[in-house]
Amino acid sequence: MEKIKLNDIELAYARRGKGTPLVLLHGFPLDHHLWDDVSSLLEDTFDLILPDLRGFGESTTLDTPYTMDDYASDIAGLLDQLGIQRAAVAGHSMGGYVALAFAKLYPERVSGLALISSQVLADPPDRKEGRYKSAADVAEKGIGGVVEAMTSKFTSDPRLQAVARALMERQQPDAYIGALKAMAERMDSTSLLSTFKFPVVIVHGDADALIPIARAREVKAAVPDSHYVELKDTGHVPMLEAAKETAEALHRLA
Ligand code: MLT
Repeated sequence: MEKIKLNDIELAYARRGKGTPLVLLHGFPLDHHLWDDVSSLLEDTFDLILPDLRGFGESTTLDTPYTMDDYASDIAGLLDQLGIQRAAVAGHSMGGYVALAFAKLYPERVSGLALISSQVLADPPDRKEGRYKSAADVAEKGIGGVVEAMTSKFTSDPRLQAVARALMERQQPDAYIGALKAMAERMDSTSLLSTFKFPVVIVHGDADALIPIARAREVKAAVPDSHYVELKDTGHVPMLEAAKETAEALHRLA
């Protein structure tokens, strides 16, 4: 992977393909390898930029708190260094929260936006409290508890559960802690949706056990022009469970 310095961290990213710039943002607590299946279906059409969000994969992080805006600023800095002014941005789950923060901070740099298994709502108080409990648990005992709790919620397919588990197990505790706190503090992005002046793609599995399908239907209702793909019998990781359909939907951003 390539690495660049910005915002006091080292950000690692992979780059593949040729065409419209498309940034693929992984979810929590994963890294850019989440996109391995989908990126081979996209690289003929897109200049794919696949960062490891700060703390994850090969990117470093800080031990001071940070926010979704900080993750988004890392992406802007990466695009600056690559000489890319505008790009389409697709985010999976927490990556979607980062994509929304990017669209809020740098709307003129967005040529299209995809939310995959994500949502625009902030955490309700009980969920927020749960995130801080999980962060404290990771600090005290390591990542095992979160990995255990999340594995079966990603997908009902045992083979893909093993893929997700392996991705989660290789992430650092600091990345979990920083991301859990950043997710807890994220803003509600509902009002942002009406400001979008670019194509929007929504992909969501109807069996998502982490972010219910209702969240995606609400976004579709708020952005009627969006390209909406609801995947039957699919869980939280369509890029693993339905790579072809996910790639097809993302082609709308070309
Ligand atoms: C993710 O997959 O990125 C997280 O489950 C999102 C969340 O917990 O809100």
